[in-house]
Amino acid sequence: MRLPGKVAVITGAARGIGAGVAERFAREGAFVHLFDRDAEGLGATVASIAGQGFGVAGHACDVSDAGSVERAVAEVIARHPRPDVLVANAGVNPTPASIVATSPEQWSAVFATNAAGVFHTVRALVPRLADGGSVVLVASVVALRGVRDAAAYVASKGAVVALARAMALDHAPRVRVNAVCPGAIATDMFEAYVARAADPEAERRRVLDGIPLGRLGTPADVAAAALFLASDEAAWVTGHALVVDGGDSV
Ligand code: NAI
Repeated sequence: MRLPGKVAVITGAARGIGAGVAERFAREGAFVHLFDRDAEGLGATVASIAGQGFGVAGHACDVSDAGSVERAVAEVIARHPRPDVLVANAGVNPTPASIVATSPEQWSAVFATNAAGVFHTVRALVPRLADGGSVVLVASVVALRGVRDAAAYVASKGAVVALARAMALDHAPRVRVNAVCPGAIATDMFEAYVARAADPEAERRRVLDGIPLGRLGTPADVAAAALFLASDEAAWVTGHALVVDGGDSV
């Protein structure tokens, strides 16, 4: 096991990548605290992990709300005063648009979860992390290479990569901070993106054709990368943005 006896906090863990990370970390020996604003989905994921005999707790939390994050972190600390790992994964990818087609409200909504949500979470949790702790921020490969019609989303994910680099310096040597940059991962977010296209099946084929490894990624693919960065295997890795995209950006 890679995380024996560790305590990990994972945001956006009700489904998709976050749920995949939670399940993998639990199997690797960590007690996992799951944050999500979808209380129902969160309950199902907690029940599934607990049903496999692993240690898990769910905390209803909207990461875009600093007070909500502070309350959830207080619940974590009451049970585990010195968590070891944070995976800040909660994110949204709303209606596609270029920057001129993006309203100020849409811009603010994307940044509220994708950038400020990460800010609230790391601000509340990093001072509590055990020495040798690890923070993994879930960004996106689009932060490194751009993509059409998702300007606010791309900018918000660029902020996440930059934050990982800034935090890596500020919190070394006590805590390591890295980013994971997934490509197209088969989750509800990806399905919603495809469904919005004029021709969804053509868009799905276009995405697949761009992936040298010939398939969409899975939450398990991202979880494996997050596990490496979270574990002591990455003890000398900080400030890195690890691309997990099937070769899409090569
Ligand atoms: P998803 O939409 O399937 O799941 C996201 C989870 O985050 C949901 O459970 C949702 O309730 C939760 N969430 C959203 N906003 C929240 C908030 N303000 N507070 C608390 N929880 C909140 O998305 P998916 O695909 O699992 O994405 C996870 C992360 O990975 C996101 O940050 C996303 O931007 C990133 N990502 C996803 C890619 C993909 O192709 N699916 C590609 C690259 C990055």
